Amino acid sequence: MSRYMKAPMRALPELRTKCMGRLNVTDSTYTSLSTIRRRRNQSFCSSTEVDSFLAVKNGVKRCTPFDLSIRPSFLTSSIKMQPEHRSAEVIVIGAGVGGLAAAKTYLELSPLTNLILLEKRPTIGGVWSEENCYEGLKTNNLGGTYEFTDFPMGEKYGIKEDRHIPGSVLHSYLNDFAAHFDILRRIHFNTQVLDMEKLGQGWRLNTETTDSSSTVVYTCDKIIVCSGLASTPNPVNIRGIDEFERPVLNHSQLREEGARIAHDPNVETVTVVGASKTGYDVVHMMASNHKKVDWVIRESGGGGVWMSSPWAKFAGAKTKLELLATMRFFTWFSPCIFGDFDGFSWIRKMLHQTRLGRYFVHKFWEGIRMDTIDMNGYRKEECLQHLEPLESLFWSARVGILNYPTDIHDYLRSGQVKIIRKDIEHLSGPGVVTFADGTSLHTDALIAITGWKLAQSIKYKPEGLESSLGIPCSNTSAEDRSLWQRLDDEADKEILGRFPYLRNPPPAIPYKQDVSPYRLYRGIAPPSLAAKGDNSIAYMKMVHSTSNIIIAECQALWTYAYLNGKLSLDEAEVYHQTALLSRYGKQRYPCGFSAWYPEFVYDAIPYADMLLHDLGLKRWRKPTLKKEMFEGYTIHDYRGINQEWLAAQVKAAPKRS
Ligand SMILES: Cc1cc2nc3c(=O)[nH]c(=O)nc-3n(C[C@H](O)[C@H](O)[C@H](O)COP(=O)(O)OP(=O)(O)OC[C@H]3O[C@@H](n4cnc5c(N)ncnc54)[C@H](O)[C@@H]3O)c2cc1C
Ligand SMILES: NC(=O)c1ccc[n+]([C@@H]2O[C@H](COP(=O)([O-])OP(=O)(O)OC[C@H]3O[C@@H](n4cnc5c(N)ncnc54)[C@H](OP(=O)(O)O)[C@@H]3O)[C@@H](O)[C@H]2O)c1
Repeated sequence: MSRYMKAPMRALPELRTKCMGRLNVTDSTYTSLSTIRRRRNQSFCSSTEVDSFLAVKNGVKRCTPFDLSIRPSFLTSSIKMQPEHRSAEVIVIGAGVGGLAAAKTYLELSPLTNLILLEKRPTIGGVWSEENCYEGLKTNNLGGTYEFTDFPMGEKYGIKEDRHIPGSVLHSYLNDFAAHFDILRRIHFNTQVLDMEKLGQGWRLNTETTDSSSTVVYTCDKIIVCSGLASTPNPVNIRGIDEFERPVLNHSQLREEGARIAHDPNVETVTVVGASKTGYDVVHMMASNHKKVDWVIRESGGGGVWMSSPWAKFAGAKTKLELLATMRFFTWFSPCIFGDFDGFSWIRKMLHQTRLGRYFVHKFWEGIRMDTIDMNGYRKEECLQHLEPLESLFWSARVGILNYPTDIHDYLRSGQVKIIRKDIEHLSGPGVVTFADGTSLHTDALIAITGWKLAQSIKYKPEGLESSLGIPCSNTSAEDRSLWQRLDDEADKEILGRFPYLRNPPPAIPYKQDVSPYRLYRGIAPPSLAAKGDNSIAYMKMVHSTSNIIIAECQALWTYAYLNGKLSLDEAEVYHQTALLSRYGKQRYPCGFSAWYPEFVYDAIPYADMLLHDLGLKRWRKPTLKKEMFEGYTIHDYRGINQEWLAAQVKAAPKRS
């Protein structure tokens, strides 16, 4: 057995003997026998499953999820059959970084759980799945910060600390991670969850294989939704596409169609629309393959995002930029509604609640903004001027790293890439792009970065449930609308009262998606269910951040504790706290997508502090106070939190006489 698995496995037998029947760490496995029996009566559950359960209980073998290799052959035929029924204790939706973190943590703490993952794609990794890894895709992060605590990349993947991780390497790493932690065999690929129905106890999920050849109905006790914020692209919506007679792609088609265009010798000119991080990647992909690029940045859109080198100078030393965003000293300059969880509330008070403090805060952010502008040369070179973001760095969570092998700006300097700051009016054939001012250009292909759908692709039953869960919804009930209006107003008053600096924001970017925002307690739990003690569903990674793995692992532990009734929630506070988190994102980072989900850049560590505080774990995780203040946090500072929490639970459990 590898060293990664030894610690949890060592702890568990002892824990089971100590806490059986009292502590819920493993009791989801034990209590579910009655559930299984009930389902057998309802013919949802096969006798094999009960037998396998009994075998586990008798210590014979581990509970196995459904063995796909013994699926009857008629299920794979193209004829649509009656739905098959299956059950599990826990279902995780999505096998991206969030789903994998959720599954690993759950199984570490309750190894006997019958847990499965449903994934609509054919391969693991979500954003980092094989079919999504387009040419040149790499992490913004440098080696050592985009990996899980208990599974360091180390030598095996050849990624050094000063290198970005190529998408294909990350994909292999996530595959290996899933195999190592016994997750891989539990993933049902090509399985899309269509709808979820809340039952008296538990949930029923209707799923369909992606080729629509079969449907399976799953029932389960608990669900963890990790379906991602970047799963479903918006369609390209420009008038005249049908007459264009040239390829029109969105950003989800880069791996195959994008590569085909990049390598087609007959394609000379490509038009790229959008200057978000994916927009930069497409421009680089085309230009590095010798295409001329007309880079259209819509005048009515959000403009360019803040791009920077992965390295920065801090106190005279070269440091990873991402470590500044997770350095406590740095985070203090961000007025944050949950900032006090970091234990330095007096510093935050001085900085944000006094005039002098706010003066320093202003100077601090303006200094960084001007350094970034200087470093990129936006105001020195005319060809780069349109890349300067419209809003100050302080207000924006739209940030990215210049993670290209050469300076992408050189393509603009040489004239191979030209920026056009106009709105497209319509397309016509063959290959004509006409702008709002009447000018036009000819192109061989158009690639538009259209952003991601904010609404969940899953439908909820019974009718009206979606509106009350706190997830994006297009038909929020009048009752929920007025409830949230009142709560949002109260939250805004509190946030702006505490942080006067946030009272004069720049104009928000006019993105339109006709859905309500995510409103989840701690960014995870539906408040309507949490407030009444129904802990059967949680959502992970529905916040946007640059510290994704820290958030994934801390959320995974919080989620486990929440789903197993191990968190003491102040139910009266749940709605208020939910509104505070949701409105905080909107007030603090008004220039991105925070009208729909909380965005954090400099607030990921206080967010982790808040989750660890709820879990009763220590938040200051550095060895000295100096490091605590001036050394950026990485995921490795959180190593062992699951076992720390488990040990604390054992200690707190009442002794059996
Ligand atoms: C191109 C790109 C590059 C990025 N690079 C970085 C980076 O360098 N660093 C960083 O910190 N962050 C980066 N991000 C942000 C990134 O989204 C997160 O880091 C992280 O990978 C997201 O993980 P996730 O599990 O939340 O979502 P995803 O990776 O999107 O996984 C969600 C999974 O759920 C599945 N799913 C969705 N709906 C259903 C359904 N109904 N039924 C079944 N399955 C479903 C999807 O197929 C997908 O596999 C990047 C994002 C994008 C789009
Ligand atoms: N590791 C990497 O190298 C890498 C690569 C790609 C992405 N990422 C990350 O992935 C995340 C998503 O980035 P992204 O570039 O794919 O998308 P994004 O930041 O969500 O930006 C999408 C763009 O879509 C356009 N858009 C047009 N209409 C829209 C609408 N109605 N709603 C929303 N957007 C609309 C906007 O452009 P206009 O403002 O011009 O209209 C917007 O800038 C970010 O966190 C990013 O850092 C990382």
